Amino acid sequence: MCGIAGYIGPRNAVEVVFDQLKRLEYRGYDSAGVAFPVNGHIEVLKRAGKLTELQKLIGEEPRDSRIAIAHSRWATHGGPTNENAHPHYDAYERIAIIHNGIIENYLELREELLAKGHKFRSQTDTEVAAHVIGEEYAGGISLEEAVRKGVKRLRGAYALVVLSQSEEGKIVAARNASPLVLGVGSGENLLASDIPALLPYTREVVILEEDSIATLTTAGIQVMDLDGRPKPLEPIHIEWDIAAAERGGYEHFMLKEIHEQPEVLRQCIAGRVDDKLEIRLDQVFSEHVWTEIDRVNIIACGTAYNAGLMGKHLFEKLLRLPTDVYYSSEFRYGDPVLSPRSLAIFVSQSGETADTLAALRLCKSRRIRTLGIVNVIGSSIARECDRTIFTQAGPEISVASTKAYTAQVTVLTLLAMYIAQVQEMPGVRVEEAVQELVGLAERAEVCLKLEDQMIGLAEKYKDMPLCFFLGRGADANVALEGALKLKEIAYIPTEESPAGEMKHGPLALVQPGVIAMFGSTDREVRDKVVSSMKEIQARGGTVIAIVTDDDTVTEKAADEIVRIPGSKLEFLSALLTIIPMQLFAYHVARLRGCEIDQPRNLAKSVTVE
Ligand code: AGP
Repeated sequence: MCGIAGYIGPRNAVEVVFDQLKRLEYRGYDSAGVAFPVNGHIEVLKRAGKLTELQKLIGEEPRDSRIAIAHSRWATHGGPTNENAHPHYDAYERIAIIHNGIIENYLELREELLAKGHKFRSQTDTEVAAHVIGEEYAGGISLEEAVRKGVKRLRGAYALVVLSQSEEGKIVAARNASPLVLGVGSGENLLASDIPALLPYTREVVILEEDSIATLTTAGIQVMDLDGRPKPLEPIHIEWDIAAAERGGYEHFMLKEIHEQPEVLRQCIAGRVDDKLEIRLDQVFSEHVWTEIDRVNIIACGTAYNAGLMGKHLFEKLLRLPTDVYYSSEFRYGDPVLSPRSLAIFVSQSGETADTLAALRLCKSRRIRTLGIVNVIGSSIARECDRTIFTQAGPEISVASTKAYTAQVTVLTLLAMYIAQVQEMPGVRVEEAVQELVGLAERAEVCLKLEDQMIGLAEKYKDMPLCFFLGRGADANVALEGALKLKEIAYIPTEESPAGEMKHGPLALVQPGVIAMFGSTDREVRDKVVSSMKEIQARGGTVIAIVTDDDTVTEKAADEIVRIPGSKLEFLSALLTIIPMQLFAYHVARLRGCEIDQPRNLAKSVTVE
């Protein structure tokens, strides 16, 4: 997710905001820019690429200003180009804006502004927001008023920061859903998307609340709500060192990323579900394409493969569309049978995994339609697929993938529902399903509250010699991902299979001390899952069951019960079981003293065969 920086005070502001951006580099970005006033005009300097590119541009002449804003962009709307980099001007170049988040109604607003004669230089939603605020500002009101009125026309998530040529002594910022923090100094004030960018300058920090507007001057900071009523400023003192601050105060990036999942789920559907609960993925393929497709092949590695299995489950169950899931490494050498009417979907967080890229090139050489589900914009897989849907999960730093998985499954769910919507499938209640998807972020928040319980279980079972991960249907798919987490970061052997397969072999491994983690969210097979639990217990194994809150059957069978909020769409309940599993794996690894963010022998992006 993007980095935001801003400074007003006696220092060289361009140098300060550049330093702030450097402190946000760990978040990942693909372009950067800065804005500051020069002779009554706002100068904008921006470049695609690393900060060194921006540094060269800044270094072309002496830059000195007492006020500046800066941004490092992680592309969402429009590729990583100079034009799409922030800051963006309004139509009259009177203001410059930086923004983090997604403006969901930017297409409608863009149409409206185009009809009034506005011209746009970029493909971004941010430039649209700049023109909206600029239009209000042209009415002769103050910058705060213009921002206040402008953001009321925006729908979606934003932390945005504005600089004006005619009110040089202030920075105005607004926040809804995307994070923004203010740094309170003496004779100087700052803002940033994340605390590490403030710490060298001040440890007094204000977390700007939702739906607030802040005005920063050298004299102080004023905050108001969207109706212009003043709000109290309540700074907190930050004790963390800089490295801890980069992790948002969490001990590891993995834990931070686990906790980011509710926000990621919101970002992932932002702009893709409208007010009428209709899914908007029209830019993917034209509607008629979906009626031509007779088979889907999902191709991926590791966690992305596990997400693909969830896609297969939905595509077949909901759409009755035959779907296969392949490991990329097997697919590329497997001489696959490919129907000309098939669609190949490539799932990848990094967009650079060598085997997945090779499988994509194979499909392209056979003229098969290709669709990417990718997190990193501008990556090879995103560029080479015919079409790509971005997961919008923000940079994932921990080698063990967490938030990318939930985002990948969410995109596959959106896609399945979109196909049902365009094909007007009888019997598929798309609206009801979308409603459930919209409520998923809130239920994910409830799952995160299970952390203390998962710490307790981790303390109790951290020395287990072997851990089974079991379930049926969608729960069996999530079990694979739960097992992958535990083995890759805690180095504990795992055995994962559909619960019904146990008695065909794996049951031989059960003995006292062995743990079996079950996901059991499917009402139809609850009794069957309970039978599998009994088989484990009869041989001395211990059962931990993750169940939905309405389940009164499983609790009588399991040794430990973990309750998650259920969804009317059971598939989504199964997806949420991954959160307690991730927390369990994380805390077991922590208690065993493992190096969590960079587990031995593994790399974040596997760009070699
Ligand atoms: C999972 O925690 C791993 N990091 C790994 O399995 C990963 O999902 C796999 O290497 C695929 O990476 P990709 O999504 O970047 O293609």
